[in-house]
Amino acid sequence: MIEDRKLEHIKICADKDVVAHHNYWDDVLLKHETIPRVDLEDIRLDVNFLGRKLNYPIIIDAMTGGHRIAKVINENLAKAAEELGIGMAVGSQRAAIENKELEDTYSIITKYEVPLRIGNLGAPQFALGYGEEEIRRAMEMIDAHAMDIHFNYLQEAIQPEGDTKVSGLKDKLKNLAKRYPLIAKETGAGISRIASEFFKNAGFKAIDVSGVSGTSFAAVEYYRGGDEGQLFWDWGLPAPYSLHILRDLDMPLIGSGGIRNGLDAAKALALGASVVGIARILLKPAMKSHKDVIEVLKRVVKEMRIAIFLSGFSGVADMKNAEYVVRGELALWLKRL
Ligand SMILES: Cc1cc2nc3c(=O)[nH]c(=O)nc-3n(C[C@H](O)[C@H](O)[C@H](O)COP(=O)(O)O)c2cc1C
Repeated sequence: MIEDRKLEHIKICADKDVVAHHNYWDDVLLKHETIPRVDLEDIRLDVNFLGRKLNYPIIIDAMTGGHRIAKVINENLAKAAEELGIGMAVGSQRAAIENKELEDTYSIITKYEVPLRIGNLGAPQFALGYGEEEIRRAMEMIDAHAMDIHFNYLQEAIQPEGDTKVSGLKDKLKNLAKRYPLIAKETGAGISRIASEFFKNAGFKAIDVSGVSGTSFAAVEYYRGGDEGQLFWDWGLPAPYSLHILRDLDMPLIGSGGIRNGLDAAKALALGASVVGIARILLKPAMKSHKDVIEVLKRVVKEMRIAIFLSGFSGVADMKNAEYVVRGELALWLKRL
């Protein structure tokens, strides 16, 4: 059942239009610096994120697992992550928690030296009974350095078979966050300020904002027969807005949702992200080969380097000081602060 759903999600995201109608990264403009600070080739892109050293500030964000095709995708993504020295999250591991036979569709990534491996389970499952045992199993499955807890209530509310329970969730997560390195993650609708304060106080180690701009899970569920999918297609907090409202929290932030290129990535760094998370644009390449994934990511790296160079900074570390202006719809969001 979950296995079929996973395949359906992959097919829909690969073949259909599932993207938000507005990409808010287009509303962020970086300030040009006439005389760059350092040589282009000396721009430093390596980072230390959650104690792990990455060559580039990029995490391949959570997508899949739980199906034979997903195993191929995860292997291609892991090979690419190894070769480039970047982080990778697997998709929700619920399928393997419920059916041990599917574990290898996730654990395949341990064949590769991925410098930061992130597991993934959904918050709604914790409201329904998951706890320490499931986190431990999921982390062991991929020898994880950290664990995403994804908040996908938009998707669950629209999905015909969705899990929409939330009571008891916060108390449970408070206990778990003390003992496991948890990352709070959205799936395309953005992390709010109120939620982020809970995550910080509970002891979560990082936040993956995954805001509106790219993949819309309301859209995905629309194709699966979710009646309200079209109405809620663009629901959520814009990705750059979510970063903006969380940047003074003093927590490591993953800037994600609709990152298409290295310019978007540089904008996310300017808005306070420590690293960026990229999902959908890697899906089709990952269905072909790890080389296709690497090609896309190398392009992103090249563009990010140019954007940092032209902004007059020397690397990821000082890009957080970059000045930017916002326009259009994003400017309206920021006015409402
Ligand atoms: C095919 C596909 C499957 C996904 N599955 C998961 C998942 O299992 N768990 C999760 O936390 N996020 C999942 N996501 C959400 C992504 O991790 C990411 O937060 C979101 O897609 C926004 O990034 P994007 O616009 O670059 O795709 C999935 C995304 C895609 C495209």
